[in-house]
Amino acid sequence: IKKIGVLTSGGDSPGMNAAIRSVVRTCAYHGVECVGIYRGYQGMIEGDFKEMGPRSVNNIVNKGGTILKSARSKEFMTAEGRKKAHEHLLKAGIDSLVVIGGDGTFTGAEVFNKEFGFPVMGIPGTIDNDIYGTSHTLGYDTALNTVVEVIDKIRDTASSHNRLFFVEVMGRDAGHIALNAGIGAGAEEILIPEEDLGLDRLVESLKRSKASGKSSSIVVIAEGDKIGKSVFELKDYFEENYPEYDVRVSVLGHMQRGGSPSCFDRVLASRLGVKAVESLLEGKSNYMVGLTNDKVSLTPLEQAIKGKSEIDRELVRVSDIMTT
Ligand code: F6P
Repeated sequence: IKKIGVLTSGGDSPGMNAAIRSVVRTCAYHGVECVGIYRGYQGMIEGDFKEMGPRSVNNIVNKGGTILKSARSKEFMTAEGRKKAHEHLLKAGIDSLVVIGGDGTFTGAEVFNKEFGFPVMGIPGTIDNDIYGTSHTLGYDTALNTVVEVIDKIRDTASSHNRLFFVEVMGRDAGHIALNAGIGAGAEEILIPEEDLGLDRLVESLKRSKASGKSSSIVVIAEGDKIGKSVFELKDYFEENYPEYDVRVSVLGHMQRGGSPSCFDRVLASRLGVKAVESLLEGKSNYMVGLTNDKVSLTPLEQAIKGKSEIDRELVRVSDIMTT
């Protein structure tokens, strides 16, 4: 291994820059060249590369987003697109890749590895925390802190006006953000795709808390929940059927993807970057680096893609008890 390419792909997440920095500096530490690939796989197809040295990643450990930009490339899903990408890599003398992203990013890397025998290593970067083989993905901790901070603010106004708030958070098909931030922010109810609470039980639960003396409530709803109504439809439903509730909706959206990474995410990014580069140098390929029981671990990419990242059932119980 003489020249490692690094890219970020899919939805960006806080900590991606810290991971790029770690990859670049670990390469420099071991005397290996490093090349930044812009706009994920799309930049690989177009040969959008830039040599990176340890000083080219100064002052980014604290920055959200990704200096290499990100994209979801449709062209890379075609054999023709991947062939172009491979040609560009060979021309630039790049002999291995570190890809930072989620499920889709790893699927691309795995196919590329199979087709060309090209050494690849994945670093999980997504706020959703929906990747098997790591307890934490890059950006998840920061997103949790962002969501909790915002819900704390919503609580102030909810309580002043005795209102019921439906707060929608991201997470794609997973409920990790909703469950953890919901507990952290003291939500009345948390709706996640992994546990279908159902409309009737939601109504019952809210009625119970009203009867017990609560004058305002915050319900955190994962975007992928299974209740079958959007947050706006839920508001309409409550206004029609339970006019005693003064309902407001807040969809947190992309603010959850931005911001300066937490210390946890910066440290995680630094650790995973080191492991990714050193694993390639040891001749390993087709793995994802992650965190297991607070130790840096390797999981075959195939397993990381196919495996399901389960939610912690104990947390569901804790959340139920907290809403008593
Ligand atoms: O995977 C990260 C994520 O932010 C999800 O939580 C969300 O469903 C999706 O990306 C949004 O994607 P986009 O930025 O393309 O709208």
